[in-house]
Amino acid sequence: MMNLMTGLLGLGGHLGGWRHKDAWSDNVMNLDHAIETAQMAERGLFDLLFMADGNAVRQMDKPALFAANSPSDRPAVFEPITLLTAVAQYTKHIGLLCTATTTYDEPYSLARRFASLDHLSKGRACWNIVTTSYPDDSLNFSRTEHMAKDHRYERAIEFIEVAKGLWDSWAEDAFIQDRATGRFLDPTRVRVLNHMGKHFQVKGPLNVARMPQGYPVLFTAGQSEDGRELAAKHADCIFAVTNTKKAGQAFYADLKGRLAKYGRAPDSLRIMPGCAVYVGRTASEAEELYDELQSLIAPELGVPYLSKLCETDMSKYPLDGPMPDLPTSVLGIASFRNTIVEMAKRDKLTVRQTYERILPSMGHVTMKGSVSQVCDEIEDWYTSKACDGFNINTPVMPRSLNDFVELVIPELQRRGLFRKAYEGRTLRERMGLPVPANPYFDKTSLAAE
Ligand SMILES: Cc1cc2nc3c(=O)[nH]c(=O)nc-3n(C[C@H](O)[C@H](O)[C@H](O)COP(=O)(O)O)c2cc1C
Repeated sequence: MMNLMTGLLGLGGHLGGWRHKDAWSDNVMNLDHAIETAQMAERGLFDLLFMADGNAVRQMDKPALFAANSPSDRPAVFEPITLLTAVAQYTKHIGLLCTATTTYDEPYSLARRFASLDHLSKGRACWNIVTTSYPDDSLNFSRTEHMAKDHRYERAIEFIEVAKGLWDSWAEDAFIQDRATGRFLDPTRVRVLNHMGKHFQVKGPLNVARMPQGYPVLFTAGQSEDGRELAAKHADCIFAVTNTKKAGQAFYADLKGRLAKYGRAPDSLRIMPGCAVYVGRTASEAEELYDELQSLIAPELGVPYLSKLCETDMSKYPLDGPMPDLPTSVLGIASFRNTIVEMAKRDKLTVRQTYERILPSMGHVTMKGSVSQVCDEIEDWYTSKACDGFNINTPVMPRSLNDFVELVIPELQRRGLFRKAYEGRTLRERMGLPVPANPYFDKTSLAAE
């Protein structure tokens, strides 16, 4: 069964989405929109609701883009764990995927927040483990520059290992709460971590009881060699930046092929490319929405948007000249730049044509058309092993998510590709992901020692 997720994109996933007549008009710090999005996605039986994040007001050096409020830059937003803890109280089943950085946070405090979220949501916490894409986030954490990528990944691995160690602090049955004997807890069922590593020294134990899922579902975003190895070792799900089926298949085979050396089954890591969906009751209805949104973006906005995704000032190149070759390595997200440059070269695109092509999907794949056309494409990617599901990008909110739930989900269900009801007690169970044993206390893992 495929997995589906969608983002909390109050502004819509298209740069012009918030200006559309069917879009919400009050998009700043709006809890009601977040709850409505979550409830709509839950009505569609989505696995996960995702919130991307950063720790800075971005793009102030690109005035047109800054003023236009690009949806992936989020100048004024709630902190994800705080927001999704609130949303948890208005939903029952959907997983709550919060972005948090290993580069500018501390394992103890973050492990504690995710454990709290898992308890408060009854087993629905999910962590998007990022190493921070936006270099200037560093300036808000007492640094003068972003940490180098290899250093960030080294720190990320130690961070995750410490967090897991902290989540293993307590046996599930540690809190006996025996009124007769006066023993509230069993001191033999807790473990002090005493971690002394290169980046962190953490004594533990965590002051939160074992969470319902053992560990939150672990999601990663990095696409480089280091990012792929991190996912193969630790993640339950990984985003993919693949905008053709062929690229999707190559990424899928690569990631699944890395799992055996960590003793993991192929299905224990889910591959989730981003996918922007423009669906209509007819193909022309979808086309109309797409054209309306594209017409809202002038070159003064399109070029800085492309510059942002390519991490290069694209205004120095002629608008109707060919897209230039760009170096493959950057401090932030290389995968978007590389996918865009490759696409432009393959399809011989100019700078203008390139930004027009990437606007609708924020650099991911676009699926556009009638219900059957969109479902054919989704089915083709899934059955061709190009993905295990999708992160559905919704161009205009709430219209696009509503259309997906009303039109696309029933057809995916009819084709036997998607669930017809939620099953399982926790997010891990609903997604069919392994439940981590506590290596220090669980009978099964003790017997195996
Ligand atoms: C699809 C996707 C989503 C991401 N989401 C975030 C995010 O919300 N916040 C963030 O700081 N970094 C985010 N990142 C950045 C990654 O954590 C990582 O820093 C970046 O991709 C560079 O690593 P890489 O070269 O291994 O891909 C994202 C990356 C990708 C590809």
